[in-house]
Amino acid sequence: LAPTSRLAGGAEMPVLALGTWPMDDAETADAVESALAAGYRHIDTAENYGNERGVGEGIRRSGLPRDEVFITTKFNRAHHSEAGVRAAWEASCARLGVDTIDLFLIHWPNPDQDRYLDALRGLVALRDEGRIRALGVSNFTAAHLERAAAAGLVPEVNQIQLDPEHSQPRVQAANRAHGIATVAYSPLGRGGSFLDHPAVGDAARAHGKTPAQVVLRWHVQHGNAAAPKSANPVRQRENLALFDFALSPEEMAAIDALDVGAPLQHDADTFGH
Ligand code: A2P
Repeated sequence: LAPTSRLAGGAEMPVLALGTWPMDDAETADAVESALAAGYRHIDTAENYGNERGVGEGIRRSGLPRDEVFITTKFNRAHHSEAGVRAAWEASCARLGVDTIDLFLIHWPNPDQDRYLDALRGLVALRDEGRIRALGVSNFTAAHLERAAAAGLVPEVNQIQLDPEHSQPRVQAANRAHGIATVAYSPLGRGGSFLDHPAVGDAARAHGKTPAQVVLRWHVQHGNAAAPKSANPVRQRENLALFDFALSPEEMAAIDALDVGAPLQHDADTFGH
């Protein structure tokens, strides 16, 4: 099993999650079932992925008690109001077949409609009522986080696209400054060009690990959580086998140096559902 990280509100979040985008319900149910059998205890989904039913089905098939699986899901822009967040929670619970959500995230800040502070207020109410264990955001920039913090609405998690070529130093610094846990999506990089980079390959050979394991280890060794997607049971197991080796400071620094400041595929200021 992956170790957990303690969020600001006290919830324990496993630092390795199964990402589920893009997969449909049937593929998701199979992937979740195999991941839980392999030892995953954190599944990441979203209203927008259209596969929460598959996540629920995979969890039920696993036979694991509900409280042994940490579920993250996210809601769309239409729910950025206190009442809307509650409606989104009810709908996600119904699709998942559960009565609590471990971590509920604002999927995108959608600054064009400027209602993410209302959405955060709705999340705080749900957490106070025990309907969710932790609250957070996704794709927030440092500016969005500063505005939320100024309003007294600090999320516990910010899930962002993060990999060695896109290390997002400004957002990560804002997360750290506010005690917000960072969760990396697409942690292997879309296309994974840097998996072939010597800095990764050298470390992989030195530790008898694969390049993907080295990159995922780099994430967790920086204190971040990661949510690699894989539908393949062999790669799912590979991506979880990170906790029996450690990268040296020199190996970490060589991978840090891969950040080329490349633009992200999705810009949080403009993109949204
Ligand atoms: P697959 O599902 O066939 O394993 P994302 O960047 O959204 O997290 O997606 C990860 C991509 O990398 C998917 O296409 C996934 O494909 C692939 N992948 C996942 N784990 C590994 C791995 N250990 N080595 C190589 N490719 C991987």
